[in-house]
Amino acid sequence: MEIFDVYPLLDLEPVKAEGSHVFCSNGNKYLDFYGGHAVISIGHCHPHYVNKISKQLNDLGFYSNSVQNPLQQELAAKLGNLSGYDDYQLFLCNSGAEAIENALKMASFHTNKSRVISFNKAFHGRTTSALNITDKDEYTAPINQSSEVTFLEINNLSGLQDELSKGDVCAVVLEPIQGIGGIRVFEDAFLQQVEKLCNEQDVVLICDEIQAGFGRTGKFFAHQHADIQPDIITVAKGMGNGFPVAGTILSPEFEAKHGRLGSTFGGNHLACAAVTAVLEVIEKEHLVRNAANIGTQLINDLASLPQIEEVRGRGLMIGIEFSFPIKQLRHTLIEEEQIITGVASNPNVLRILPPLTITQNEANQFKTAIKNALKQPQPQ
Ligand SMILES: Cc1ncc(COP(=O)(O)O)c(C=O)c1O
Repeated sequence: MEIFDVYPLLDLEPVKAEGSHVFCSNGNKYLDFYGGHAVISIGHCHPHYVNKISKQLNDLGFYSNSVQNPLQQELAAKLGNLSGYDDYQLFLCNSGAEAIENALKMASFHTNKSRVISFNKAFHGRTTSALNITDKDEYTAPINQSSEVTFLEINNLSGLQDELSKGDVCAVVLEPIQGIGGIRVFEDAFLQQVEKLCNEQDVVLICDEIQAGFGRTGKFFAHQHADIQPDIITVAKGMGNGFPVAGTILSPEFEAKHGRLGSTFGGNHLACAAVTAVLEVIEKEHLVRNAANIGTQLINDLASLPQIEEVRGRGLMIGIEFSFPIKQLRHTLIEEEQIITGVASNPNVLRILPPLTITQNEANQFKTAIKNALKQPQPQ
């Protein structure tokens, strides 16, 4: 059997990893400024994480959601405490797209409406409802199509006011910092207006924090930079540091009814051990603060480099836009500087999503590497 060919692959085969580094089968050690696609939050193979999951695996690997599982409660309490959402409720599932599906479903149950407002260049996943609110027609098969979504340009307040005044919207969904869309940051003032309008009109505000959450932007959630409180928050990626786990976090106004949401694997014992370990390390090693400190400095320093059009982002979620496509630059960084970086839907944007544990030395190494790589002629 062949693997169904859906990804363009880098010529790298990681075989081991530690902290901010990945060791590949070619014998080279790479600095991981891509974080395995924003997934590695506390660093690769963190000893506390490895121990906690190993111990859980030895005690009990899995049992279904039909029995008591206090590990879920432990995780939820820790998450509520660290994120500032003690009074919210957590539904555990397995992937980002699933977290989004559940969020949209709960918004629709709650309002008894179905139209959704999303934003240009949004990415929310590849299942049906997630695709409907994703701004990428190529990913959508006829079976996924629904006309009940309206896309607006980010920060378009009058457009949002017009749409909400029609009275048929169940949810506004946004990534406070768009990831795949090219690290495009919603203005704080706009987010505050979205929150106000949604509250006034009984529309559910969903913040997709799947990429930006769990400390990546220098706050536990990216929307906290704007000091707003969405009704629903979706999380995945950095939550499990590589263990497949996701969550839909719901305000107290949402009523739980048996049967509406469910999952065989969601909230399993190993997933709970992984997330609790991640939260413990984030707290103990002050990783949200580290992301803020190192990220802010890095963004400032990168902005002063020649040939860079714009540096966007917050904390360790950074987009560097050039006036040329970055494909060759990214390859130079891998081949000559042994640094892995990410891409975005805009071919001119290099996406930087390192583990939240990176040190100042590693950030400096990246700055020197990009300066060196930029000395080579780039395609125009
Ligand atoms: C903002 C955002 N939402 C949703 C998703 C989908 O997550 P998953 O691939 O786990 O389904 C992603 C994945 O990249 C994402 O970046």
